Amino acid sequence: MEGFIRQGLTYDDVLLVPRYSDIRSRKDVDTSAQLTKHIRLGVPIVSANMDTVTESEMAITLARRGGIGIIHRFNTIEQQVNQVRQVKRSESFIIENPYTIEPESTVGHARELLDDHHITGLPVVDDHCRLVGLLSSRDILFVHDDSKVVSEVMTPRDRLVTAPTGTTISEAEEILQTHKVEKLPLIDSDDRLAGLITLRDILKRTMNPESSKDRKGRLYVGAAIGVVGDYIERAIELINAGCDVLVLDIAHGHSQNAISAARNIKLRLSNVELIAGNVATADGTRDLIEAGADAVKVGVGPGSICITRVVTGVGVPQLTAVMDCVREADRYGVPIIADGGIRQSGDVSKALAAGASTVMIGNMLAGTRESPGVVVVKNGRRFKASRGMASTGATLERRRREKPGWEGETDLTDVVPEGVEGMVPFKGDVSEVLVQLVGGLRSGMSYLGARNLNDFRERAIFMQITGAGVSESEPHDIEL
Ligand code: XMP
Repeated sequence: MEGFIRQGLTYDDVLLVPRYSDIRSRKDVDTSAQLTKHIRLGVPIVSANMDTVTESEMAITLARRGGIGIIHRFNTIEQQVNQVRQVKRSESFIIENPYTIEPESTVGHARELLDDHHITGLPVVDDHCRLVGLLSSRDILFVHDDSKVVSEVMTPRDRLVTAPTGTTISEAEEILQTHKVEKLPLIDSDDRLAGLITLRDILKRTMNPESSKDRKGRLYVGAAIGVVGDYIERAIELINAGCDVLVLDIAHGHSQNAISAARNIKLRLSNVELIAGNVATADGTRDLIEAGADAVKVGVGPGSICITRVVTGVGVPQLTAVMDCVREADRYGVPIIADGGIRQSGDVSKALAAGASTVMIGNMLAGTRESPGVVVVKNGRRFKASRGMASTGATLERRRREKPGWEGETDLTDVVPEGVEGMVPFKGDVSEVLVQLVGGLRSGMSYLGARNLNDFRERAIFMQITGAGVSESEPHDIEL
C-alpha cells in the first residue's frame, strides 16, 4: 500500500475563476471538439451507451445538433446493426441504395413500402435495375383501387428529370430548383439507377448546418461493443452497416481483457475509430492508447445510476480522474471523454476546462422524448425509466436474451449489482436539454474569454471551494 493519500476532487468541489473577456456574445464561441483522433464534432456532447438512453432516435437528434449518440449493446447484433442503419439512412446528400419498386407491382404494395419506410417516393426499376419511372405518394393519393399496377400511375422515365452519378449537391440544388421537382434519380453510365437526391434531405442539411456528418452527408453514429464473446463479429457487422466509431466499453477498462480486445479490434479493423474505457488513471489511459485507442473514456463510479464505489470501495472522483488521464493522453495527442456524473451544464464546462475533449451523458438525456422506453404517469407526474447497465434489471434482461425461451426461475445469488434502476422525470424534447447544456457551456467559455475549447482549457483556473461555497452557489433564500 502506498503511504501517501491523495485528495480527489469532483465537479462540485471546484469553480472556474472568471477572466477578462472580449467576447461580445456567447454565439461568438466555437464549441467544436475532437471525439477521437479523426472525428470532430460541432458540440462536445456524447450520449451514453445505455439501454435507457441511446437508440436511433436519440442518436439522430444528437447528431443533428452537432453531438453523437452511442447505440448500446444490450441487444442482439442484428438489433444493434438495425439501429445504426436507421441513423445512417435518416439523412444523406445522396441515398445510395434507395428503396425501389417494379413496374408490375401493385399500388397496394407501393403504399405499404412508402408507409413502412416513412418515405414519399419510389424509383421504379426493371429487372436490370434500369429506371423506368418514379412513383410518388402524391401519384396514388386518389387512387382507390390498390390492385392497379405501378406502371399505370407512375411518372414515366421520359417525363423525369435525372442526373448522372457524380452530380454535386450544388448542381443538384440547381436542377431541383430549375425543374421544380423534389426528387432527382442518379443514373450511371450503364443507365442503371445509382442513387437518389431529395429536396427533403437538402432542406434538412440547411436546417441543421451544425450537424455531425460523414463525407456522404450521413449523420455520425457510434456503437458499443464488449470485450468477450461475439465482440469481433459485432464490430465487423456494425462497421459494415456504416457505424463511424466503436466504443469498447467495460466497467474496468484497465484490464487484460479490455487491452487485448482493443488490440484485436485494431488488428482486424485497422481503419476503425476506437474509443476504449472506462479508466480513471494515467496508467489505464496509457495502456489503452498503446493498445490502439483513438480516444479514452474516463469515469469509474461517477454515474447517476452507479453504485460501484459503494459496493466495491473503488473509484476516483471525476474531476481528478479526468485531469490525471488528460495529462497522460496529451502525450499521445489522444482525446479524453469525461463519462458520467454530469448533473448540470456547469459540470460540462468544468470537465472540458479540465482538459476532456467531450463529455458522455446518461441521466440528463434519459427521460427525454427521444430516449428508449415509454412515459409512465405516477401521481399526475410523468417519468421514464433509467437504469445502470450493471443493475439487477439489466442483468435479468441480458439473461433473457442469451437464453431465449427462459421464463422460469433464474438464480441471481452470485450477481453483485453495481448499478441501480429507477425513474427520472420526463424532460420533453432532447433539443431543449441540449439548448441549456450547450448554452451554459458557451456562457462559461465567454466568462473565461475563451473563443474555443482549446482556449478554454488554457485559460482555466480552478478554485477549490468549501461546503459553504457549494450552498452559496445554489439558489438560496427563495421558494422555488
Ligand atoms: P450519468 O451520470 O450521466 O452517467 O448518468 C452515465 C454513465 O454511467 C456509467 N454506467 C454505470 N456505471 N454501474 C456503474 O458503475 C452501472 O450499472 C452503470 N451503467 C452506466 C456509464 O459509464 C455511463 O456512460
